[in-house]
Amino acid sequence: MKLLSDQVSEREIQIILRELATTTAVEGDVVEFGCYVGTTSVHLAKALQSSQKRLYLYDSFAGLPEKRTEDMSPAGEQFKTGELLASKKELIRNLKQTGVPMPRIKKAWFSELTSDEVPHEISFAFLDGDYYDSVRDPLRLIWPYLSACAVVVVDDYANEALPGAAKAVDEWRRTHELRAFQVEASLAIMKL
Ligand SMILES: C[S@@+](CC[C@H](N)C(=O)[O-])C[C@H]1O[C@@H](n2cnc3c(N)ncnc32)[C@H](O)[C@@H]1O
Repeated sequence: MKLLSDQVSEREIQIILRELATTTAVEGDVVEFGCYVGTTSVHLAKALQSSQKRLYLYDSFAGLPEKRTEDMSPAGEQFKTGELLASKKELIRNLKQTGVPMPRIKKAWFSELTSDEVPHEISFAFLDGDYYDSVRDPLRLIWPYLSACAVVVVDDYANEALPGAAKAVDEWRRTHELRAFQVEASLAIMKL
């Protein structure tokens, strides 16, 4: 399937799907924070189409929020407030075109989501909000609901243009125990 945007690479999609497959027997649903036009979502939805697991997608559909100090990098000047804006309509159109069952889609800033708006058993999460707060807020929100042996994949961990993502992950790892942690392409893979 042709990628819908350049926000993830073919290799990253393969890694994400490989990690998703390791959680098939883990209880819980699948979440993506920062779904944009659905480049990754369509692959997640396809992989899950014959499973009982439901897919939940979250995005502001208003693009990136403001940067904070942690996100500043000379390499990342192109990332500005409001960049990477996709409409919910566009996402739905892309999902429909691939013929997958429609995921649950929630338009919100991650900081405004409450625990009632995420599944209470999660086996796999893909976090792709680019910025420090946009990674840390979903980690805080979903951590109590991650099943044993769940996997959380965070994009842009190894991306010097978006240093906030790695800062949020590294801070989190200092205070939260993981079974394993690895980095492949620009992805951080956190195994509970
Ligand atoms: C890099 S794009 C995501 C790419 C997507 N995963 C894909 O595969 O196409 C980042 C997305 O995160 C969203 N986003 C970033 N920070 C957010 C926040 N704090 N709250 C809600 N949405 C946010 C942006 O609107 C944007 O759509």
